[in-house]
Amino acid sequence: MFTGCSSMKQLLPLTVLLLLVSAGMTVADLPKAVVLLDPPWDRVLQEDSVTLKCQGTYPPGDNATQWLHNGSRISEQTFSYFIESARVEDSGEYRCQTGLSTLSDPVQLEVHIGWLLLQTTQQVFQEGETIWLKCHSWKNKPVQKVTYLRNGKGMKYFHWNSDFYIPDATHNHSGSYFCRGLIGHRNTSSEAVNIIVQGPASATVSRMLLWHQITFCLVMGVLFAINTGLYFSVWKNLRNSMEDRRKYKFQWSLDVQEQ
Ligand SMILES: *[C@@H]1O[C@H](CO)[C@@H](O)[C@H](O)[C@H]1NC(C)=O
Repeated sequence: MFTGCSSMKQLLPLTVLLLLVSAGMTVADLPKAVVLLDPPWDRVLQEDSVTLKCQGTYPPGDNATQWLHNGSRISEQTFSYFIESARVEDSGEYRCQTGLSTLSDPVQLEVHIGWLLLQTTQQVFQEGETIWLKCHSWKNKPVQKVTYLRNGKGMKYFHWNSDFYIPDATHNHSGSYFCRGLIGHRNTSSEAVNIIVQGPASATVSRMLLWHQITFCLVMGVLFAINTGLYFSVWKNLRNSMEDRRKYKFQWSLDVQEQ
């Protein structure tokens, strides 16, 4: 039993480490590349220009970058992909990869046709973040008397078009947003964009999930260690009983010889 206990002590940290590693926390993994948009809007109007940049690690002397648009490779091979005049066909999912990074998560780009477009950096925000909105006009034509609206109600009015910032957003800022204004004498409105501000509730849920994972790993580690301990003790008992039997056989043959 002593052998079982000491090997259990040695195995426990190793087992927990192995379980954590197999749970996805690999140390030597390559970093994941990231696609960044410049300017940061994930929705643009036709004929806007936009640059996609690939943030990743490169081997020395090798700047080759692979770009995927809707899953197909495109000819661009440098770290930035410049779209001079966006077309609707440029919409979709972009991913990139460099020599020393794994394939990035997809970034969505939407190319819209219209006079006005309400631009945001993302559609899902966390509470406390700043929501940055831009009432963007086609070919940057001047817009006057601009109103930003949420769920049909005016939130902010600018005589001359300006960006609208909502600092320290709360879940009350979730809703359907659009902007309207005058381009020349034309009263125009953008399409609506749904913005979601996630409360701290979802952060609590992800923390709970993490604790569940850690507890699971620890329980598995302890079970594994106990299992190993049991294995050694059973093996030792088996060996002892086999030795006993041998002794008994030996004793028995001695008895037979004496007779
Ligand atoms: C544009 O039209 C809406 C109604 O559709 C109106 O409420 C708004 O005042 C008009 N905007 C301007 C700047 O005239």
